[in-house]
Amino acid sequence: MKVLSVNAVSKIFPNGLKALDEVSFSAEEGECIVAAGSNGSGKTVLMNIIAQLEESSSGSVTVQQGKSIGLIFQDADAQILGETVEEDASFGPRNAGYSKNEIKEKVDSSLTSTGLAHKKDSPSRLLSGGEKRRLAVAGVLAMDCDILIFDEPFANLDWPGVKQVCSIIAQLKKEGKTLIVLTHELEKILSLADRFLVLHYGKICFDGDPEEGLKLDLNKWGIRNPLVAYESIGDLLW
Ligand SMILES: Nc1ncnc2c1ncn2[C@@H]1O[C@H](COP(=O)(O)OP(=O)(O)OP(=O)(O)O)[C@@H](O)[C@H]1O
Ligand SMILES: [Mg+2]
Repeated sequence: MKVLSVNAVSKIFPNGLKALDEVSFSAEEGECIVAAGSNGSGKTVLMNIIAQLEESSSGSVTVQQGKSIGLIFQDADAQILGETVEEDASFGPRNAGYSKNEIKEKVDSSLTSTGLAHKKDSPSRLLSGGEKRRLAVAGVLAMDCDILIFDEPFANLDWPGVKQVCSIIAQLKKEGKTLIVLTHELEKILSLADRFLVLHYGKICFDGDPEEGLKLDLNKWGIRNPLVAYESIGDLLW
């Protein structure tokens, strides 16, 4: 069953820049879509339009009735509202009208699964960049949304942080959530993808099976093919 359809969405900014050009795709319930694109390809604009934070110039977005969308922003600072970690993660469930006990349960469990339980009384603004991202994930987990969109979820994270986010994404997939991960860092996540999209200068260049996608020349779209092996120190240079 389709939970989300993006229908020929274009976005032209007042300065004339065409950030999205007739983008169409849809997400099935429980599907994990990894959408790759280099800097400026339109990933964040697309997320903002799907979540109705921004208007498209033409086209439409349809979300199945009753389904909610949670966003994990690329800029984790922009997502922090609470003074303390616990308070911040409580915002969503509190606004959704849950009882005090339910809020506590949801917040405790989301802080535990993001590895932030020990920081629950810390001031949010003093968290490191990676911890702020985990907090953003915790806040969205606590809201229990049906569709989650992660915008560059690995930015700023160290190796354990990346693994933690990946295991959260894997867990959410198991729970049947519909997931869209916007990233250019395919080596970190593609194994979880049911479908792979490539966005380049606002156009969808590929939409299909991840394995088929990797057979293409991704370089021309500014995406590094993750199927490369490092054999010696000489290979360690991007
Ligand atoms: N308000 C705006 N006015 C004009 N141009 C904009 C505006 N917002 C975004 N853009 C442009 O739209 C294009 C797509 O931007 P977007 O932020 O979606 O890229 P992205 O794929 O998320 O890149 P990154 O990987 O760097 O996060 C860029 O060229 C950007 O400069
Ligand atoms: Mg972006």
